[in-house]
Amino acid sequence: MDLGISGKTALVTGASRGIGLAIARILAAEGVRVVGAARTVTPELEKVAVAAVSVDLSTRDGARSVIDQALAAVGGIDFLVNNVGGDTGNLSLDGFLDVDDEQWQTIFDLNLFSAVWTTKAALPSILERKGAIVNISSINARMPTGAPVGYAEAKAALNQFGKRLSEELAPRGVRVNTVSPGPTATPVWTDPDGFGGKVAAASGVGHSDLLTALPGQFGIASGRLTEPEEVADLVAFLLSGRAANIHGADHVIDGGTLKAV
Ligand SMILES: NC(=O)c1ccc[n+]([C@@H]2O[C@H](COP(=O)([O-])OP(=O)(O)OC[C@H]3O[C@@H](n4cnc5c(N)ncnc54)[C@H](OP(=O)(O)O)[C@@H]3O)[C@@H](O)[C@H]2O)c1
Repeated sequence: MDLGISGKTALVTGASRGIGLAIARILAAEGVRVVGAARTVTPELEKVAVAAVSVDLSTRDGARSVIDQALAAVGGIDFLVNNVGGDTGNLSLDGFLDVDDEQWQTIFDLNLFSAVWTTKAALPSILERKGAIVNISSINARMPTGAPVGYAEAKAALNQFGKRLSEELAPRGVRVNTVSPGPTATPVWTDPDGFGGKVAAASGVGHSDLLTALPGQFGIASGRLTEPEEVADLVAFLLSGRAANIHGADHVIDGGTLKAV
């Protein structure tokens, strides 16, 4: 299927690895000029992006400055993918009573406010170009998770943000959609030093045993984790004109984990 997006421009946040890198790759392969942002500029990102920006997106200044740098690099923004989020490996697995306000603030800054800040700064350009926005949420927006405290809450707010933005922007020619992955095979789970490794240690099991048991534990009907490239394909489709009348929807990609009809 020809997505017809060659020559467009995109900013992908959290693009140095995982889902963000997969999105940057597929968009670049479709001929999109991609600006990728993360704290670390990896060789993999440099290979696909026309510009790679090192920035902390959990701050308002960082989120605003990345838009300035993207506009300077590619002249305007057609597509904004607010992918940055999670960073769960650095957070406590404690319950509600043991988690301080700082954790709530950290999670909301990265998973909700970063998208609010980048969207606000990028919107004049996106409106001018009648572009599209995709926010990467999680099935945890609809399905509570024990830890880290605040993550599911922030993603639920992100879903609502996408919906309200779509209501306001659809009449002005800008499409906003949400993509909600289930457990996905990114370093969050696959890196023994990441969130998955931390969960394994807390559960007293080996990291590889945890990965083997995950589909069963989450009730993933397909029996496997989602691949980042599968999420990226969905995002590329939603950004393209092939999805021209898809507005304000939350698109779940989770191998059948969510059971609600
Ligand atoms: N993996 C899953 O199972 C899963 C499931 C549902 C939803 N999601 C969502 O999908 C999105 C991507 O997750 P992922 O699994 O691909 O995560 P990941 O592998 O940990 O990648 C996260 C990306 O964000 C960047 N990043 C983290 N903190 C940042 C900050 N403060 N400023 C700038 N960049 C930052 C990271 O680069 P640096 O560390 O170099 O900054 C990296 O490029 C997140 O919104 C996550 O919540 C993931």
